[in-house]
Amino acid sequence: MLSARTAVRSLKEYHPPLSGRTGLRLDFNENTQGASPRVLSRLRELTLEELARYPEREPVERRVAGYLGARPGETLLTNGVDEAIHLLCQTFLEAGDEAIVVVPTFAMYELLAASAGARVIAVPAARNFEFPTEEVVARITDRTRLIAVANPNNPTGTLAAREDLVRVARAAPQAAVFVDEAYFEFCGESMLSEVRELPNLFVARTFSKAYGLAGLRIGVLVGCERQMQMVRKVASPYNVNAVALACLPAAMDDQPYVNGYVAEVLRERLRLQRALDAWAIRYWPSRANFVLAHFGERGPLLVKALGRRGILVRDRSSDPGCAGCVRITVGNERQMDELLMALPETLHEIGIRKKVG
Ligand SMILES: Cc1ncc(COP(=O)(O)O)c(C=O)c1O
Repeated sequence: MLSARTAVRSLKEYHPPLSGRTGLRLDFNENTQGASPRVLSRLRELTLEELARYPEREPVERRVAGYLGARPGETLLTNGVDEAIHLLCQTFLEAGDEAIVVVPTFAMYELLAASAGARVIAVPAARNFEFPTEEVVARITDRTRLIAVANPNNPTGTLAAREDLVRVARAAPQAAVFVDEAYFEFCGESMLSEVRELPNLFVARTFSKAYGLAGLRIGVLVGCERQMQMVRKVASPYNVNAVALACLPAAMDDQPYVNGYVAEVLRERLRLQRALDAWAIRYWPSRANFVLAHFGERGPLLVKALGRRGILVRDRSSDPGCAGCVRITVGNERQMDELLMALPETLHEIGIRKKVG
C-alpha cells in the first residue's frame, strides 16, 4: 500500500481559518485596503496571449533585484515567502538535520522543516518575547542546517537586533540563516546589506503585506550568489505565475501609494496601542502591521464577540507562550475607527471594565 514519507505522516496539519472571511479583515496581517489601483488597471489589460505563454520570471526578477540593491544572481522571485522557506528546506535539509526556530513564530518554518525530515528545535523567546540570542547560539550543533527568524516576528511584532542576527549567522556557518522580512515596510530595518558578508544568510521579502498582493503570491529571496545557484536548482522555472509577474511592476511603480498606506498604518498602530493602554490591556509594542494583546481567559470570547460585529481578529492562544493573546492587524484610519468604536461595548460585553483614572 502506498504510504507517505514518515516525516509527512507525522506532520501536524495547518489550516488557517480562511473560510467566511467577510467584514473587517484584521486577522491575517494583510493589507486591509488593497493594492495600488494601478494593479487593477494592469489586470484589466491582461491579454489571453499573456496567459497562454509560460511566465518569464527573469525581467521582473532583475527589476526587483535593482530595487533591493541586489544582483540578479543573488535574487529569486518566489511564490510568496512560503515558497522561499520550502526551497531553503529542500536545498539544505537532510533527514535528521536540525532546524532552529524561536517560538512563538510563523508556523510554516516548523512545518516545512519537519516535512523535509529535519528535527525542529524550538527555542522559547526571552522575556517580553525578545530574541533569545544566547539560547539560540547554545542550541547550535554540527547538525544545525537551518535557523529561521521572522523579523519583525509574527505574532509578537518584536524585532531582533542586527548584531544578534549577525552573531547567530557567524556561530552557525554550516546552517542557512533565514531572516524573514515579510513586515519590513512597517519597520524599516533590514539585513539585506549583510548578505555579501555572510554567505549563509538569506533574506526574504513579500509583496503580500504592505503591497497588498497576498492573493497573487509573490515574494523574493536574496542570498549569496553561490548558494542561490543551489536554491534555483530546486525551484520550478514557472514558480511565479504570469498574472503576478504582470502586476508586480505596476505595484512597485506606485511607491507613493505603498508609502502612504504604511504611514497610515503606523499612525493607527500608535492609536491602537494607546487605546489598549487606556484599557490597561497588556500588549507588546509592535514593529509590524499588527499588535499582540493579552486578554487572558477572555481572549477567545473577544475574538467571537468582535466576529459577531463583523470584525475579524486572530486568537493566538495556542501559540507557545501566548495563552490569552489575540493578534489584531492594523488597518487604515477608517477601519481602525470601526474597531475602536466597537471595542468599548465588546469589552464590556465580555466583562472587561475600563480602568478608572
Ligand atoms: C513572518 C511571515 N512570513 C511569511 C508570511 C507569508 O508570506 P507570503 O504571503 O509571501 O507567503 C507571513 C504571513 O503571514 C508571515 O507572517
